[in-house]
Formats: sequence, C-alpha cells, structure tokens
Amino acid sequence: MYSPTSAEITLRRATEDDQPIIRRMVTSECLNPRDVHWQNFLIAESGDRIVGIGQIRLHGTIKELGSLVVAPEMRGQGVGAALVAALEARAGLPLYLMCGSHNVPYYTRLGYREVLGDARPAAMLPPRALLWFVERVLRLTIHIMVKER
Ligand SMILES: CC(C)(COP(=O)(O)OP(=O)(O)OC[C@H]1O[C@@H](n2cnc3c(N)ncnc32)[C@H](O)[C@@H]1OP(=O)(O)O)[C@@H](O)C(=O)NCCC(=O)NCCS
Repeated sequence: MYSPTSAEITLRRATEDDQPIIRRMVTSECLNPRDVHWQNFLIAESGDRIVGIGQIRLHGTIKELGSLVVAPEMRGQGVGAALVAALEARAGLPLYLMCGSHNVPYYTRLGYREVLGDARPAAMLPPRALLWFVERVLRLTIHIMVKER
C-alpha cells in the first residue's frame, strides 16, 4: 500500500472552468473519451496548477472510477493514490474500473482485484464492435477490476 502523498497537493471538486483541461488530460492519455463531464470529477492541485484528475461514472447502479490522470512530472508522488482514495470515499464501495494490462499491477496495489467473464458488469463493457476492434485489431486487453471493501 502507498504512503500518503509526498507532493503538496489539495483535492477539490471540479468546476465548469476545469472542463477544457479535463478533456485535454483525458485525450492526451488516450483514455475513454465518453462521459467526461466536469460534474463527476475531482481535481488535484499543486498551487494553482491542476496536476491530477479522476472521476466517478455511473452505469445504473454500477460505479466506475475513471479518467485517472496525473501530470507526467508529478507522477510517483502519491497523487494518483490520493485521488483514488478520495474518489472511493466519495462513491463508496464496491467500485469498479477498466484499465489496460500495464495498469493492473498499479490498481492491485491499491486493493483492486480483476473481475473475469460473466462476473464483469455488462453495463461497463464497451459496445461489442468496439471491444472487438480494441482487442483483436489493437491487440489490447481490457481488464475490469473491483474493490469491494
Ligand atoms: C497511473 C497513474 C494515474 C499513477 O499516478 P501516480 O500519481 O504516479 O501514482 P502514485 O504516485 O499514487 O503511485 C506511484 C507508484 O505506482 C507505481 N506505478 C505507477 N504506474 C504503475 C503501473 N502501471 N504499474 C505498476 N506500478 C505503477 C510507481 O512505480 C510508484 O511506485 P512506488 O510508490 O513504489 O514508487 C499515472 O501514472 C498516469 O497518469 N498514467 C497515465 C494515465 C493512465 O494510465 N491512467 C490510468 C487509466 S486506467
């Protein structure tokens, strides 16, 4: 588990003014561009600079932690872990997320476990055609993970 953040950051709810930078940060990391609405985001700031974002998406009763991005020069200082903890406190558990293979170890360290096969909430899965394109053409595996307690 992570020690508390070593960076001097504050966390706050996003405002409408944050929407352009939220979208830029999501796009710059090629994350899911759907449902990127400032109302659902928390912001990590260092001074007056936005250094991290993350949100809760709702799929019916399923809650998804999404759009987690930390500015490259601020990584490795606990900003991501602080955002995850704050989003968990805001949304409650169980909390699901979707990630690529390279991020599975990161979320495992934060207490998430992979959900496989039919246990994956259908509401979270991308449309069948998009899933086929991502997994067969781009050769990326989409992992769904959950933290239950
Ligand atoms: C993933 C991300 C949010 C982590 O943010 P962060 O602020 O650097 O994370 P933390 O500081 O809380 O944790 C850093 C620790 O996690 C480790 N870590 C970071 N990414 C990792 C990964 N993909 N797999 C395993 N460990 C990882 C670091 O090595 C570091 O370990 P240490 O504490 O032993 O030094 C950040 O790297 C990022 O923005 N990545 C690009 C966007 C992205 O992939 N978002 C996730 C979408 S599902």
